[in-house]
This record gives sequence, C-alpha cells and structure tokens, in this order.
Amino acid sequence: MYRDRIRLPSLHSKIISAAEAAALIQDGMTVGMSGFTRAGEAKAVPHALAERALQTPLKISLMTGASLGNDLDKQLTEAGVLSRRMPFQVDSTLRKAINDGTVMFIDQHLSDTVELLRNRQIKAVDLAVIECVAITEEGHLVLSTSVGNSASFAILAQQVIVEINLAQPLELEGLHDIYIPSYRPTRLPIPVLKADTRIGSQAVQIDPSKIVGIVISNQPDSPSTVSPPDIETQAIADHLVEFFKSEVRENRLTHRLMPLQAGIGNIANAVMHGLIGSPFHDLTMYSEVLQDSTFDLFDAGLLSFASASSITLSAAKHAQVFGDFARYKPKLLLRPQEISNHPEVIRRLGVIGINTALEFDIYGNVNSTHIGGTRMMNGIGGSGDFSRNAHLAIFVTKSIAKGGAISSIVPMVSHVDHTEHDVDILVTEQGLADLRGLAPRERARVIIDRCVHPAYRDALNGYFAAACAKGGHTPHVLRDALAWHINLEESGSMLAE
Ligand code: COA
Repeated sequence: MYRDRIRLPSLHSKIISAAEAAALIQDGMTVGMSGFTRAGEAKAVPHALAERALQTPLKISLMTGASLGNDLDKQLTEAGVLSRRMPFQVDSTLRKAINDGTVMFIDQHLSDTVELLRNRQIKAVDLAVIECVAITEEGHLVLSTSVGNSASFAILAQQVIVEINLAQPLELEGLHDIYIPSYRPTRLPIPVLKADTRIGSQAVQIDPSKIVGIVISNQPDSPSTVSPPDIETQAIADHLVEFFKSEVRENRLTHRLMPLQAGIGNIANAVMHGLIGSPFHDLTMYSEVLQDSTFDLFDAGLLSFASASSITLSAAKHAQVFGDFARYKPKLLLRPQEISNHPEVIRRLGVIGINTALEFDIYGNVNSTHIGGTRMMNGIGGSGDFSRNAHLAIFVTKSIAKGGAISSIVPMVSHVDHTEHDVDILVTEQGLADLRGLAPRERARVIIDRCVHPAYRDALNGYFAAACAKGGHTPHVLRDALAWHINLEESGSMLAE
C-alpha cells in the first residue's frame, strides 16, 4: 500500500502504530525529533508519547531542530514528559514551564547543537523520531518540510523511528541537500559557494537496520500565524530599502544586494514583504526559514533562489505554494541547520542578516530572548549564527510595545544576546541607525535621534546626558540603568514615576 513511500521492501514489516512506537521511548532517554520552525516535526509519535505519559509518567530530554507545531510542545509539557528541552521553542505552555523552572531549557545557537552531539560534549541521542515523505530503495530517509537537525539525529542515534507522513507531498523529494561535516580537526571546508550550490545527497544516508519502527501519519504542518504587514513594519521596510539604495550608490552593494537572511516572526516576515516594489532584483536568500514573504518575493519577480532549513507558511500561502510546487521547486533548497546557519559560510557569502530584537540599548546591545531580563520568550534561534558573521547585521523592532508601556530602546538591555560588537544597523519605524565605525557615545546619539519613539526620547536624552557627566568609554549611571525595567515590573509602564 505504501510501496511508493517505503521503497525498501524489507522495511514493510517495520510498520507499527504510533502507540507501539511511543512505547520504544524509555524513561530517561535523550530523544532527537525532527521539526524546525513548526515544519516537518514528527507528529504521531510525540502525541502518542504524551498520551502514554498521562497514564505512566516518564521523562525525557528532547532535542529538535527548533520549534514544533501542532501543539506538541504543549502536549508534552502538560503530560510532564520534558525534563530538558533544546535548542528552541515558541510554545506558551512550555514557555511557562521553562520560566517556572520545571523544564530545563538550553537556549542554543541553532548551528551548535549537532556539533556538540558529534563531539560528545553533550549526552548522546538514544533514539531519533524523524518525519519523512519516503524511504528510498537503499533505506535512506527523504525528509519533509524541514531538515533542521534531523539528518544528524538519525545518523548519531542508536535507533530511529520514521514517521511517513502522507499529508506531506512526495514532490518534496529532491528539495533537500544533506551534507554532514566530517570530524574536527581534519574537517574539509564546506563547499557552498552560492545560495544554490548543492553539496550533498537528497536523502539521509543511514543503515536501515537502525530503523526500529515506521509509523504512517497523515497530518499537515500547522500553519504559521504571521500577522499581515502594518504601517510600522512597512515603515521599517522603507527605511531599510532607502539604506540599501544608499549602499548601492556608495558601491558597497549592487542591485542584487547580498544573500538575505530573515528571522522568524511577524516583523521580519513583514519587513521582507516590504521589499516588494523596491528596485532590487535577482535577489537570493541564504536563510534558515522561508516564510510567506519568500514566496511573495518570488511572485513579484525579485527573488531568484532561496536556500534554508525549513518552509513555514500560513494556510493560504501553503495552499498556493504546494498547489503549484513545480514552479517553485527549482528555486528552493533545504539544508541541515548547521549548514544553513554555518558561521564560516555566512561570513564568506556575505549574508545580510535581518533579525528581530525585543529591545536594544543606546549602545547597540540587543536582547532577543528575555522579557524583563529573566523570562524566556522563544530563544536565540539562529539570530546569533547570522548576526556575528553577517556582511550586515541588521536588527529590527517597533520602537514601542504593549501600547507604549514599553520602549524597545532602553538605557541598558536587561539581557544581552547580541553584543554591541555584532550589530551594524538598527531599525524601528522611526528611522535607521547605522552604527558602523562609531564609538559608543556616537552610537548612542544616532540611536536616540533615529530609532526612539518620541514619547521616550527626552527620557533617554536625559539618561545619556547624566551618564556622560559621570564619564566612561560606555557611559552609564548604574543605579538608573535598569530603572525602566523595574518601573515596568512594579507599575506596568517603563516611565512610571
Ligand atoms: N518587552 C516585552 N515584550 C515585548 C517587547 C519588549 N521589549 N517587544 C515585543 N514584545 C512582545 C510583543 O508585544 C508581542 O507580545 P504578544 O505576543 O503578547 O503580542 C511579542 O513580544 C512578539 O512581538 P512581535 O512584535 O509580534 O514580534 P515577532 O513575532 O516578530 O517576534 C521576537 C519577535 C523577538 C520574539 C522573535 O523574533 C524571536 O523570538 N526572536 C529570537 C529568535 C530569532 O531571532 N531567530 C532568528 C533566526 S530564525
């Protein structure tokens, strides 16, 4: 029945139910599951595992590529399955458990996880659960809408459970480029020369005798929930377009720009969408997730190729793209996240990284992860992989949040993900600050003048003046540096008296 999907006949006898597969997961195991930005996650087995744990409690360490869809992190959290979780998540129930201290979350650069595994610097993966669209005649795995860490999990784990998801189109076969770096210190350079360079195989090469179960599933990825562009995100995009135009005028960029990376979330997606109508053309993406905006840029004729690690789309865009996939497929490629996010490749290709900040400070330090300095939002994801190594490290955010109770530009960030040394350009709907070649005091002047919401500008000017009066290379009044965050905590607004 599944001959076109499971092409190695000896594996047909391995088909089991999701509950039987979940029973292979033992208490205390480290499990590596497919899934990256809510795309291509194993679906039936984690669901069955959560159901099983409600009857017979067990705990595992769970590694994925990035976030899971279909509420799986919620289900696993509510069933008490997760003792440790890495390297990224976006689920509100899991977020609460992380912030309560009941789940130990390791927030990690997305390029790092399998490097640590390969070098035995963290506990090995006992079992991998990987969503596929097919298994080849050789017993190799054809992945679905994400590659993430799936290839290395399957290669490094002792046992592999495969979920063949009939809801994922077989046309995905051929999209993946599986390349696994060899061991250090004799590793060869990764030969990606352009966004469209193919360097690996189309399927994950494992010994099929490691496959201990095959589960047939039939459930789509959950749609992304990106909100449409608004006046502020369009203003951010407009500032960026003007900046890119000036870079072209100065002969620092051409009309092709450099390969683009755009982070997860509403703002980065909307900003990419805002490039439509700009004078740039023949653009490429070397990114980690392709959201709706990528396909809008294809359709607008601006983008010629996109390389990433996953495809995460809204319901409407999913129907459009997969209804006409043959048109897009030659322009797409999915890589393991350690390749899509590889620092050396990013630096060599000259990627322009556009990621979103929760907040940044007057000297250019960026907080992408921690609300109020303590509460985890999602995680650093790939933003550090890209920004430290980018040709241009750009961070975007709206200048205020929560109806103006929060200024996204603060005297001192309450947590640092990207230091002042890694940040080139900051953009809000108010304007763009080009920090390149500026000393801290110069950066503060540009950031306050260009990026801050008018409601907070006087207060930040006052802080900066008081700090400069005290002196220092990076002036601060330490007693007041986090006062805005304390005000927010105590009275619900950063500027409360
Ligand atoms: N303090 C507190 N909350 C803030 C805030 C701040 N300074 N700035 C924004 N927020 C809140 C928003 O109000 C919103 O809250 P809501 O969900 O209750 O509405 C939430 O954070 C998300 O903000 P939104 O404006 O919708 O932005 P987004 O969807 O673009 O997400 C990040 C922004 C920073 C959370 C997201 O991009 C992220 O997790 N980044 C880190 C990982 C990353 O960059 N990966 C990139 C490589 S793919």
